[in-house]
Amino acid sequence: MRIAILSRSDRIYSTARLRDACITKGHDPIILDYRHCYMTIEQGQPKIFFKGAEVKGIEAVIPRIGASYTFYGTALVRQFEMKRIFSVNESQAITRSRDKLRSLQLLARAGLNIPKTVFAHDAHNVDELIAMVGGPPVVIKVIEGTQGKGVILADTLQVARSTIEAFWGQNINILVQEYIHEAGGADLRVLVVGDQVIAAMRRVGRKGEFRSNLHRGGKGEAVAIKAEEAQLALQACHTLGLGVAGVDIIRSARGPVVLEVNSSPGLKGIEAASGVDVAAAIVAYAEAHAPAANVHDSVGY
Ligand SMILES: Nc1ncnc2c1ncn2[C@@H]1O[C@H](COP(=O)(O)OP(=O)(O)O)[C@@H](O)[C@H]1O
Ligand SMILES: [Mg+2]
Repeated sequence: MRIAILSRSDRIYSTARLRDACITKGHDPIILDYRHCYMTIEQGQPKIFFKGAEVKGIEAVIPRIGASYTFYGTALVRQFEMKRIFSVNESQAITRSRDKLRSLQLLARAGLNIPKTVFAHDAHNVDELIAMVGGPPVVIKVIEGTQGKGVILADTLQVARSTIEAFWGQNINILVQEYIHEAGGADLRVLVVGDQVIAAMRRVGRKGEFRSNLHRGGKGEAVAIKAEEAQLALQACHTLGLGVAGVDIIRSARGPVVLEVNSSPGLKGIEAASGVDVAAAIVAYAEAHAPAANVHDSVGY
């Protein structure tokens, strides 16, 4: 099968792993830097070009769209969808998952356990907002942050108040969230592919850090997750409509809660911690679903 991996570079670990997994399984992968793809939108003839040539014959797409390129990247995934080519994650689902507020609204509606969260743009009483999520310490998050970069722990009322006001002053949308202190700077990253939990790791933040992200110096370790945690991860992934996702779950005193669902989860940490070949599972998912979904490219649509 000709599989397009949409990624900025083959030097990225996850991209290289996906390419190698395709080759191992006898497929023909092509890495397309989605930033340099372009598309023509014409009646009945959606086309995609890369470096001057039309991209043809693709049977499945594995999108690895960076957070800074969500708009353009998802437009390209959508163009593949217009050509009726299967993508392991749909463009809509990627867009949904990139917006922390939208994701939490959907997860809450589906009845899943999430941290208590408030969203406001300009509250008359900031203190009331802070009190609504249990008072300080509270977590403040920018809506489209990633790798822990837009996540702040405000441990006093003063810090919380001034941080919220600073973001609003800059017109930046934020969530204010209950701080789940019993997590102790650790959480679970659960990798879901289709309707299966493929791998999981426990991430522990470095000393003095409440964020467990590996990009922030956190460490991944092997973990056996509970059935209810696996169930929650699957439900979260399906609620957002993702075929492949990394679900962040925190172990709280009231049971597991979902923090967020990532549509381009990094493979390095989780493969190392769990010993699972996640890349192979993603390629197998494309293999299983693409043939049924595709009306082949050459048919002219
Ligand atoms: N409400 C919270 N209570 C405790 N820890 C949190 C909370 N929200 C986030 N964290 C910690 O911060 C990390 C980053 O938060 P997350 O919502 O996953 O944003 P990002 O997209 O930046 O990874 C989480 O993995 C977790 O360790
Ligand atoms: Mg996260």
